[in-house]
Amino acid sequence: MADSITITDNRTGESVEIPITNGGVAAADWSKFLPGVWFYDPGFMSTAACESAITYLDGEAGILRYRGYPIEQLAERSSYLEVAYLLLHGDLPTADQFEAWRHEITMHTFIHENVRKRFLEGFHYDAHPMGMLVSAVAALSTFYLDAKEIFDPASRNKQIIRLIAKMPTLAAAAHRFSVGMPFVYPDNSLDFASNFLSMMWKVAEPRFEADPVLSRALDVLFILHADHEQNCSTTAMRVVGSSHADPYSATAAAAAALYGPRHGGANEAVIKMLTEIGSIDNVPDFIAGVKAGNGRLQGFGHRVYKSYDPRAKIIKHTADQVFEVTGKNPLLDIALKLEEIALSDEYFTSRRLYPNVDFYSGLIYQAMGFPLEMFPVLFAIPRTAGWLAHWQEMLDQDSKIARPRQLYIGTEPRDYVGIDARS
Ligand SMILES: CC(C)(COP(=O)(O)OP(=O)(O)OC[C@H]1O[C@@H](n2cnc3c(N)ncnc32)[C@H](O)[C@@H]1OP(=O)(O)O)[C@@H](O)C(=O)NCCC(=O)NCCS
Repeated sequence: MADSITITDNRTGESVEIPITNGGVAAADWSKFLPGVWFYDPGFMSTAACESAITYLDGEAGILRYRGYPIEQLAERSSYLEVAYLLLHGDLPTADQFEAWRHEITMHTFIHENVRKRFLEGFHYDAHPMGMLVSAVAALSTFYLDAKEIFDPASRNKQIIRLIAKMPTLAAAAHRFSVGMPFVYPDNSLDFASNFLSMMWKVAEPRFEADPVLSRALDVLFILHADHEQNCSTTAMRVVGSSHADPYSATAAAAAALYGPRHGGANEAVIKMLTEIGSIDNVPDFIAGVKAGNGRLQGFGHRVYKSYDPRAKIIKHTADQVFEVTGKNPLLDIALKLEEIALSDEYFTSRRLYPNVDFYSGLIYQAMGFPLEMFPVLFAIPRTAGWLAHWQEMLDQDSKIARPRQLYIGTEPRDYVGIDARS
């Protein structure tokens, strides 16, 4: 049997055979054959927009790999900074390469004083930290004019390092401003996650000592969120980057996509749902309501995963470790009961609805003291590595500017009528 498809134009009777390569058929082949006929695919449900060597995801089997490495092994043995290097460079670093990478990132954690004083402090007192982050990242492009040199390898590498390094600083600064606390400068003697926790929580002590269990848990969450192939924000990154905009502007666009509740806000929705349920006794009624069509079980189901999200399994384990330090999040019992009932209920099993990454991550963040508004910000910090890996790959592929077609459904041509003559 040939590994190809045949398209026949019934208007002419002509056919074209197109090979199936890597699970896809090249649109260029059939669009030459069918000029002016567009493939209608809202939400890109059936469209592969690029070839990518970064992340492999099999939603049927519940598999996620970065550059070939299973997510379980990376979460168990690696660190976020090592994973960021892996995503961007394609291979794990040697000891020397890692030390140079860690040093570079650490030396770029500071932000220009004017970013803080003129931009961040210019926001309204109750500004949402994610809105502040999106704006501050975009503003960075005005500080680093060399960022426009996107085909100069040295410049490109420098912006990548700056972005990965400064994200936690901007994120913590946005939080501190929104709660009226003074800015905390980075402490370059600390590792990536501990430094972020220090910038978040330090008060008057000379040095903030993060609990190592919490630092590690955050680092694991950063690993799990570092990339997820062509999701909404990564697509935004690639689309904006395809116009050859600088990486700060493209990253700001990606972060803006992440701001939306359908993407970066689902774990917040889980916490709200669990809070509304309020007690384990109310779980059966809540499930019955969902089955009757009253809302959704937040943190369940996924566009791609049709089995247990592998990240959710790891997070569940991380949650246990965090709760040993912070005390159990009182919403955990409700979450566990929901999961237990849903996993044995025909409504959910027949639709292949399983817990996704967001089902437990919010519980961890909340137990660690992060306010709900910080949840998308916590997602943006590590996803920056994934966004940049895709941006770089897209530029190296010399990809075309993203410019989809549309099916026009508006009115036929008509003549302009002066305002006095309109009825
Ligand atoms: C993630 C999500 C948007 C994926 O949606 P999708 O792939 O477009 O799937 P659909 O919306 O077509 O849902 C398919 C069926 O499952 C049901 N379903 C999907 N997710 C559900 C959920 N969380 N709770 C209850 N029912 C759900 C739908 O009602 C639909 O049922 P039907 O066939 O009887 O109409 C969806 O599962 C969802 O809304 N989940 C909750 C929000 C969430 O956790 N988002 C984070 C994703 S990481």
